[in-house]
Amino acid sequence: MIDSAKVSTLHEWLKTSKQTVILTGAGMSTESGVPDFRSSTGWWTKTDPQKVATVEALEHHYPLFHEFYSLRINALKNIVPHEGHEILALWENQGIIRSVATQNVDGLHQQAGSKDVKELHGSIRKIRCHSCKKFASMEAFLNMEKCECGGKLRPNVVLFGEMLPQEPWINAMYNIQRADLVIVIGTSLEVYPVNQLPSETKGKTVYINLDISNNAIGFDLVLQGKAKEVLVEINNTFK
Ligand code: OAD
Repeated sequence: MIDSAKVSTLHEWLKTSKQTVILTGAGMSTESGVPDFRSSTGWWTKTDPQKVATVEALEHHYPLFHEFYSLRINALKNIVPHEGHEILALWENQGIIRSVATQNVDGLHQQAGSKDVKELHGSIRKIRCHSCKKFASMEAFLNMEKCECGGKLRPNVVLFGEMLPQEPWINAMYNIQRADLVIVIGTSLEVYPVNQLPSETKGKTVYINLDISNNAIGFDLVLQGKAKEVLVEINNTFK
Protein backbone atom coordinates (compact mmCIF):
# COMPACT_ATOMS: atom_id res chain seq x y z
CA MET A 1 0.00 0.00 0.00
CA ILE A 2 1.36 3.40 -0.96
CA ASP A 3 0.96 5.97 1.83
CA SER A 4 -1.62 8.44 0.46
CA ALA A 5 -0.84 11.13 3.06
CA LYS A 6 2.78 11.12 1.89
CA VAL A 7 1.64 11.25 -1.73
CA SER A 8 -0.43 14.37 -0.92
CA THR A 9 2.55 15.97 0.83
CA LEU A 10 4.75 15.32 -2.18
CA HIS A 11 2.07 16.76 -4.47
CA GLU A 12 2.17 20.00 -2.48
CA TRP A 13 5.96 20.11 -2.51
CA LEU A 14 6.02 19.53 -6.29
CA LYS A 15 3.47 22.32 -6.81
CA THR A 16 5.39 24.88 -4.77
CA SER A 17 8.94 23.92 -5.78
CA LYS A 18 10.52 26.20 -8.39
CA GLN A 19 13.25 23.71 -9.22
CA THR A 20 12.80 19.97 -8.76
CA VAL A 21 15.50 17.49 -9.73
CA ILE A 22 15.02 13.74 -10.01
CA LEU A 23 17.86 11.33 -9.29
CA THR A 24 17.32 7.73 -10.41
CA GLY A 25 19.01 4.36 -10.09
CA ALA A 26 18.51 0.82 -11.33
CA GLY A 27 15.24 0.41 -9.39
CA MET A 28 13.70 2.89 -11.84
CA SER A 29 14.14 0.35 -14.64
CA THR A 30 13.26 -2.97 -12.99
CA GLU A 31 9.57 -2.58 -13.87
CA SER A 32 10.68 -2.41 -17.52
CA GLY A 33 12.47 -5.74 -17.05
CA VAL A 34 16.04 -4.49 -16.52
CA PRO A 35 17.64 -6.15 -13.47
CA ASP A 36 19.14 -3.92 -10.80
CA PHE A 37 22.50 -4.66 -9.12
CA ARG A 38 22.05 -5.33 -5.43
CA SER A 39 18.56 -6.85 -5.01
CA SER A 40 18.22 -10.65 -4.73
CA THR A 41 17.76 -10.79 -8.53
CA GLY A 42 20.43 -8.15 -9.22
CA TRP A 43 23.60 -8.55 -11.29
CA TRP A 44 26.00 -8.36 -8.37
CA THR A 45 24.37 -11.27 -6.54
CA LYS A 46 25.48 -13.65 -9.33
CA THR A 47 28.47 -11.83 -10.87
CA ASP A 48 31.47 -10.31 -9.12
CA PRO A 49 31.71 -6.68 -10.33
CA GLN A 50 35.51 -6.81 -9.94
CA LYS A 51 35.63 -9.51 -12.63
CA VAL A 52 33.46 -7.78 -15.22
CA ALA A 53 32.96 -4.06 -14.58
CA THR A 54 36.43 -2.71 -13.83
CA VAL A 55 39.25 -1.26 -15.91
CA GLU A 56 41.29 -4.31 -14.83
CA ALA A 57 38.62 -6.63 -16.33
CA LEU A 58 38.54 -4.67 -19.58
CA GLU A 59 42.30 -4.59 -19.96
CA HIS A 60 43.21 -8.09 -18.74
CA HIS A 61 40.08 -10.28 -18.93
CA TYR A 62 38.38 -8.91 -22.06
CA PRO A 63 36.32 -12.06 -22.89
CA LEU A 64 34.57 -11.93 -19.49
CA PHE A 65 34.11 -8.16 -19.73
CA HIS A 66 32.75 -8.53 -23.27
CA GLU A 67 30.37 -11.34 -22.32
CA PHE A 68 28.89 -9.34 -19.43
CA TYR A 69 28.24 -6.18 -21.44
CA SER A 70 27.03 -8.08 -24.53
CA LEU A 71 24.50 -9.85 -22.31
CA ARG A 72 23.26 -6.54 -20.95
CA ILE A 73 23.17 -4.89 -24.39
CA ASN A 74 21.27 -7.80 -25.96
CA ALA A 75 18.84 -7.89 -23.03
CA LEU A 76 17.89 -4.26 -23.76
CA LYS A 77 16.66 -5.08 -27.28
CA ASN A 78 13.04 -5.73 -26.31
CA ILE A 79 12.92 -3.35 -23.35
CA VAL A 80 10.76 -0.22 -23.40
CA PRO A 81 10.23 2.56 -20.85
CA HIS A 82 7.31 2.13 -18.43
CA GLU A 83 4.64 4.60 -17.33
CA GLY A 84 6.90 5.99 -14.58
CA HIS A 85 9.51 7.04 -17.15
CA GLU A 86 6.72 8.59 -19.23
CA ILE A 87 5.39 10.53 -16.23
CA LEU A 88 8.83 12.05 -15.59
CA ALA A 89 9.01 13.09 -19.26
CA LEU A 90 5.52 14.60 -19.01
CA TRP A 91 6.43 16.48 -15.82
CA GLU A 92 9.48 17.99 -17.50
CA ASN A 93 7.29 19.05 -20.39
CA GLN A 94 4.75 20.59 -18.00
CA GLY A 95 7.45 22.39 -16.01
CA ILE A 96 6.80 20.33 -12.86
CA ILE A 97 10.40 19.08 -12.78
CA ARG A 98 13.58 20.59 -14.16
CA SER A 99 15.82 17.63 -14.98
CA VAL A 100 16.72 14.02 -14.37
CA ALA A 101 20.13 12.81 -13.23
CA THR A 102 20.55 9.06 -13.55
CA GLN A 103 23.00 6.31 -12.75
CA ASN A 104 21.22 4.18 -15.35
CA VAL A 105 22.99 3.49 -18.63
CA ASP A 106 19.94 2.04 -20.41
CA GLY A 107 18.66 5.27 -22.04
CA LEU A 108 15.05 4.63 -20.97
CA HIS A 109 14.47 8.17 -19.67
CA GLN A 110 15.36 9.64 -23.07
CA GLN A 111 13.38 6.94 -24.87
CA ALA A 112 10.34 7.99 -22.82
CA GLY A 113 10.82 11.60 -23.92
CA SER A 114 12.85 13.19 -21.09
CA LYS A 115 15.10 15.82 -22.66
CA ASP A 116 17.26 17.07 -19.81
CA VAL A 117 18.92 13.85 -18.66
CA LYS A 118 22.36 13.80 -17.03
CA GLU A 119 23.82 10.33 -17.56
CA LEU A 120 26.19 10.15 -14.60
CA HIS A 121 27.42 6.62 -15.43
CA GLY A 122 27.39 7.03 -19.23
CA SER A 123 25.44 5.03 -21.78
CA ILE A 124 25.61 1.35 -22.67
CA ARG A 125 24.08 2.18 -26.05
CA LYS A 126 27.22 3.96 -27.25
CA ILE A 127 30.47 2.17 -28.03
CA ARG A 128 33.93 3.68 -28.06
CA CYS A 129 37.54 2.65 -28.20
CA HIS A 130 39.16 2.32 -24.79
CA SER A 131 42.46 3.64 -26.25
CA CYS A 132 41.71 6.40 -28.78
CA LYS A 133 38.10 7.11 -27.56
CA LYS A 134 36.74 7.10 -31.15
CA PHE A 135 33.10 5.99 -31.34
CA ALA A 136 32.31 2.68 -33.05
CA SER A 137 29.22 0.69 -33.97
CA MET A 138 27.34 -1.64 -31.64
CA GLU A 139 27.81 -4.44 -34.20
CA ALA A 140 31.57 -4.01 -34.09
CA PHE A 141 31.52 -4.38 -30.30
CA LEU A 142 29.16 -7.37 -30.31
CA ASN A 143 31.35 -9.06 -32.97
CA MET A 144 34.38 -8.50 -30.72
CA GLU A 145 36.11 -6.40 -33.37
CA LYS A 146 38.96 -4.09 -32.48
CA CYS A 147 39.18 -0.36 -33.18
CA GLU A 148 41.18 0.58 -36.28
CA CYS A 149 43.86 1.84 -33.86
CA GLY A 150 44.07 -1.66 -32.39
CA GLY A 151 42.37 -0.65 -29.13
CA LYS A 152 39.62 -2.58 -27.36
CA LEU A 153 36.01 -1.54 -27.94
CA ARG A 154 33.82 -0.91 -24.90
CA PRO A 155 30.47 0.61 -23.98
CA ASN A 156 30.67 4.29 -23.03
CA VAL A 157 29.87 3.54 -19.38
CA VAL A 158 31.74 4.30 -16.18
CA LEU A 159 33.68 1.29 -14.93
CA PHE A 160 34.75 0.89 -11.32
CA GLY A 161 38.03 2.76 -11.04
CA GLU A 162 37.07 5.43 -13.58
CA MET A 163 36.07 9.07 -13.12
CA LEU A 164 32.51 10.09 -13.83
CA PRO A 165 32.06 12.09 -17.05
CA GLN A 166 32.59 15.68 -15.89
CA GLU A 167 29.90 17.53 -17.85
CA PRO A 168 26.84 15.60 -16.59
CA TRP A 169 28.33 15.48 -13.09
CA ILE A 170 28.91 19.23 -12.87
CA ASN A 171 25.49 19.98 -14.36
CA ALA A 172 23.70 17.58 -12.01
CA MET A 173 25.53 19.08 -9.03
CA TYR A 174 24.67 22.62 -10.21
CA ASN A 175 20.97 21.77 -10.57
CA ILE A 176 20.79 19.93 -7.25
CA GLN A 177 22.54 22.73 -5.35
CA ARG A 178 19.89 25.14 -6.65
CA ALA A 179 16.93 22.80 -6.20
CA ASP A 180 14.01 23.30 -3.82
CA LEU A 181 13.18 19.62 -4.08
CA VAL A 182 15.26 16.53 -4.92
CA ILE A 183 13.43 13.23 -5.47
CA VAL A 184 15.62 10.14 -5.37
CA ILE A 185 14.06 7.05 -7.00
CA GLY A 186 15.17 3.40 -7.07
CA THR A 187 18.75 3.54 -5.89
CA SER A 188 20.46 1.85 -2.95
CA LEU A 189 22.74 4.92 -2.71
CA GLU A 190 25.62 2.51 -2.19
CA VAL A 191 27.86 3.95 -4.87
CA TYR A 192 30.12 6.97 -4.50
CA PRO A 193 30.12 9.75 -5.65
CA VAL A 194 26.48 9.82 -6.79
CA ASN A 195 25.32 8.91 -3.28
CA GLN A 196 26.70 12.29 -2.15
CA LEU A 197 24.39 14.28 -4.43
CA PRO A 198 21.19 14.33 -2.29
CA SER A 199 23.02 16.01 0.59
CA GLU A 200 24.16 18.82 -1.74
CA THR A 201 20.75 20.45 -1.85
CA LYS A 202 19.38 23.05 0.54
CA GLY A 203 15.88 22.03 -0.55
CA LYS A 204 13.65 19.18 0.56
CA THR A 205 14.67 15.59 -0.14
CA VAL A 206 12.44 12.60 -0.93
CA TYR A 207 13.43 8.93 -1.18
CA ILE A 208 11.20 6.56 -3.18
CA ASN A 209 12.36 2.95 -3.05
CA LEU A 210 11.13 -0.62 -2.70
CA ASP A 211 13.43 -1.47 0.19
CA ILE A 212 13.82 1.10 2.89
CA SER A 213 17.17 0.70 4.55
CA ASN A 214 19.67 2.86 6.39
CA ASN A 215 20.14 4.73 3.13
CA ALA A 216 16.77 6.39 3.67
CA ILE A 217 18.05 8.14 6.79
CA GLY A 218 18.19 11.91 6.52
CA PHE A 219 15.50 12.31 3.87
CA ASP A 220 12.59 14.65 4.61
CA LEU A 221 10.08 12.18 3.16
CA VAL A 222 10.43 8.45 2.53
CA LEU A 223 7.93 6.69 0.31
CA GLN A 224 8.14 2.93 0.15
CA GLY A 225 6.90 1.35 -3.07
CA LYS A 226 7.66 0.55 -6.68
CA ALA A 227 8.83 3.47 -8.77
CA LYS A 228 6.17 3.13 -11.47
CA GLU A 229 3.33 2.62 -9.01
CA VAL A 230 4.35 5.55 -6.82
CA LEU A 231 4.81 7.88 -9.80
CA VAL A 232 1.39 6.89 -11.17
CA GLU A 233 -0.19 7.68 -7.78
CA ILE A 234 1.51 11.08 -7.59
CA ASN A 235 0.60 11.89 -11.19
CA ASN A 236 -3.05 11.08 -10.44
CA THR A 237 -3.05 13.89 -7.89
CA PHE A 238 -2.38 16.37 -10.72
CA LYS A 239 -5.45 15.24 -12.70
P1 OAD B 1 21.15 -0.99 -6.80
O1 OAD B 1 20.85 -2.33 -7.36
O2 OAD B 1 22.29 -0.85 -5.88
O3 OAD B 1 19.87 -0.42 -6.05
C1 OAD B 1 18.61 -0.46 -6.63
C2 OAD B 1 17.58 -0.12 -5.56
O4 OAD B 1 16.31 -0.04 -6.19
C3 OAD B 1 17.48 -1.18 -4.47
O5 OAD B 1 17.48 -0.52 -3.20
C4 OAD B 1 16.13 -1.85 -4.74
O6 OAD B 1 15.48 -2.24 -3.54
C5 OAD B 1 15.36 -0.74 -5.41
N1 OAD B 1 14.31 -1.21 -6.35
C6 OAD B 1 14.31 -2.30 -7.14
N2 OAD B 1 13.20 -2.32 -7.90
C7 OAD B 1 12.50 -1.20 -7.58
C8 OAD B 1 11.27 -0.64 -8.02
N3 OAD B 1 10.52 -1.23 -8.94
N4 OAD B 1 10.88 0.53 -7.49
C9 OAD B 1 11.63 1.16 -6.54
N5 OAD B 1 12.79 0.67 -6.07
C10 OAD B 1 13.23 -0.49 -6.59
O7 OAD B 1 21.28 0.00 -8.07
P2 OAD B 1 21.89 1.47 -8.10
O8 OAD B 1 21.71 2.15 -6.80
O9 OAD B 1 21.38 2.13 -9.30
O10 OAD B 1 27.40 1.28 -11.34
O11 OAD B 1 23.42 1.14 -8.29
C11 OAD B 1 24.34 2.18 -8.46
C12 OAD B 1 25.47 1.73 -9.32
O12 OAD B 1 26.01 0.50 -8.82
C13 OAD B 1 25.10 1.36 -10.75
O13 OAD B 1 24.97 2.49 -11.57
C14 OAD B 1 26.22 0.47 -11.16
C15 OAD B 1 26.29 -0.39 -9.94
O14 OAD B 1 27.50 -1.00 -9.71
C16 OAD B 1 28.41 0.85 -12.10
O15 OAD B 1 28.38 -0.21 -12.72
C17 OAD B 1 29.57 1.78 -12.11
